[in-house]
Formats: sequence, C-alpha cells, structure tokens
Amino acid sequence: MTIFSRIIGTGSYLPGSPVSNLQLAADLAARGITTSDEWITERTGIRARHLAPESVTCSDLALEASRRALAAAGKAPDDIDLIILATSTPDLVFPSAAALLQDKLGIKNGAAAFDVQAVCSGFVYALTIAEKFIRSGSHHRALVVGAEVFSRILDWNDRGTCVLFGDGAGAVVLEASEVPGILSTALHADGSYNAILSVPGQVCGGRVIGTPLLQMEGQTVFKFAVKVLHEVAQEVLAQAGVTIDQVDWLIPHQANIRILHSTAKKLGLPAERVIITVEQHGNTSAASIPLALDEAVRSGKIRRGDMLLLEGVGGGFTWGAALLKF
Ligand code: UT7
Repeated sequence: MTIFSRIIGTGSYLPGSPVSNLQLAADLAARGITTSDEWITERTGIRARHLAPESVTCSDLALEASRRALAAAGKAPDDIDLIILATSTPDLVFPSAAALLQDKLGIKNGAAAFDVQAVCSGFVYALTIAEKFIRSGSHHRALVVGAEVFSRILDWNDRGTCVLFGDGAGAVVLEASEVPGILSTALHADGSYNAILSVPGQVCGGRVIGTPLLQMEGQTVFKFAVKVLHEVAQEVLAQAGVTIDQVDWLIPHQANIRILHSTAKKLGLPAERVIITVEQHGNTSAASIPLALDEAVRSGKIRRGDMLLLEGVGGGFTWGAALLKF
C-alpha cells in the first residue's frame, strides 16, 4: 500500500504587538536613518511587522506555534515521532532549535529532531523532507515548523533591508495517510548566487569573523525570485498532472507584494486566489509560508479538500514548491 502524507493541523505565533511603518520610521529617524511609510508600502506592500523582545528565542516562537498546531490536529506532543524545524536564526550554534523545541514540548519518546537551513525556502524544504520520511514508512507523524527571529540579524543602519523583515513562527502536523495530501514537491538550489543574499559571518575562537548581519542585492533577488517561483510552480503542477485552474490557493513566501502579484500573473492565477500576509507580517523568512497557511485556515479562507500550492525562495540561493490537497 502506498503511504501518503496529509496536514492534519496548523498553528502560528507572532510575538508582541505589530510595529507599524510609521512607528519603525520614527525609531529609525532617531538613529539618523530616513525612511517613510509611503516608500515601504509602495515598494513592498509591508505595513507592519512583529519584533520579538530580546529574551525571546526562535524555539520559544516555535513552541507556541507547535502547541497550536498540535491542538488543531487533536494530538499530544508525544504523538510526534519527527520534528523538523526550518530556521536561519536558531537559539544557539548547537544544539538545534528542533532539539530545544522537543524539550520545551516535553516530548520524551525519542522523536528525531533536527533543523533545516534553507533560509526563506526552509519551510518548503522541511515539509518535503518530512513527506519523504513519512512516505518511506520510517516515521508516522511529523511536526514541521518554520520559526525566525530575523530582527536579530538585521543591520538597523541599512534602510534597504531592515524595514523588510519580521519575527514569527508557523507549524503543521503532517501525518501518514491512505489518501494523498501532498501530491508533488520540488527543491532546488544554486550556490553560485550565495552572495546576493547572505549573513556572511561565522563564530571562530569566540569571536565573530565577517559580518553577522543580513546583506542583500534587492533587485537581483527580486528578478531571481520571480523567475524561479514561476518555474518551480510549473514543475510541481506538471509532476502531479494538475493545471493552474485546479489550484484554489497559492501560498508563496511573503517577501514583497510585487513579487507575489508578478508570480500569480505569470501563472495565470487571479490575485484573489493568493494568500497575502506580507502586509501585516513583513518577511518572516522560513516562517512566512506556515504563518500564511495558518492564518488562512483559521479565517476560513482555506477549507479541507482545497488544492494548495506552496512555494518559497531565499538565500543560498534556494527555491522549492509543494502541491497538496489540504
Ligand atoms: O526573502 C528573500 C527574498 N527577498 C526578496 O524577495 C526581496 C527582493 N527585493 C525587493 O523586494 C526590492 O528590491 C526591495 C524592496 C528590497 C527594494 O526595492 P527597489 O524598488 O528594488 O528599490 P531600490 O533598492 O532600487 O532603491 C530605490 C531607492 C534608492 O534610492 P536612490 O538610489 O534611487 O536615490 C534607495 O536608496 O530607494 C532608496 N531606499 C529607500 N528609501 C526609503 C532603499 N530603502 C529605502 C527605505 N526608505 N527603506
């Protein structure tokens, strides 16, 4: 019998109150950095983001999102036998944020736990890996999480990047199933583009070598994102023998509303069938897709049986997509 996998619960969590563009612009002005609500809204669609207090870590955000996903799935922590956490902003160099999350959830059953680092494509990578573990029969029920505290790695003196990102977490419970949930997946990377979006620093001998803050060539990333998001969407649709008009909802990585609209237009999908949360969350990297998914599920937009196309793109460069019946 073929084993498939299905999402049986979603959850998400945003720290603190939203920080509006106006508020952020005022905070930045105090540091001598000029920006405006108009610029941020026009160029990105972002109106607000959430920023975690210093004491809150990646695994703290992951914990809240995971509890909500487990509750939605009607499962207890010990029902999970695999934890995959996508992040580029883990609590520590090691142990992994996934191991810390396992401890915080009180899971004592020896469930495997590891992090995936594929920046903004991280959740699609993590979901794809979990799907393959479940399909192989080695694991039965996975907690797949995207969690980030990107505010920690932003250069608050670089107005070209610091206004774009936010913190948050999203999670899903993925379970073995006789009927297909995930229909097709595709993952890609091209490391030769590593320099266009990076945090080019490392810890060595107790010191940071290089730059521990995010750097981005915005326009190069923009063009690359629109191109590969289109290609990978076509790839998973073709793999599953599904046409774009059968897709109920596109849930892309939330980086810039102009990228989301261009992607939908190129695919021939009406803008009303795209889940958009970038306005309120900013770019939360690996957390953005599961956050958007959970919000749309809880608001009643996404219903059981809907065909969903998830796709991400980010540093590496990495990109990927997953087509699934919810
Ligand atoms: O999650 C991974 C994927 N990341 C992305 O997908 C991001 C992709 N890139 C983008 O979203 C866009 O390239 C940005 C939003 C980052 C930038 O938009 P842009 O339309 O490409 O603007 P730009 O970088 O060409 O800058 C235009 C102008 C510049 O001024 P001059 O040189 O024309 O005088 C910038 O200095 O806007 C200026 N600028 C700002 N002005 C006010 C840059 N940042 C700001 C700011 N406020 N925050």
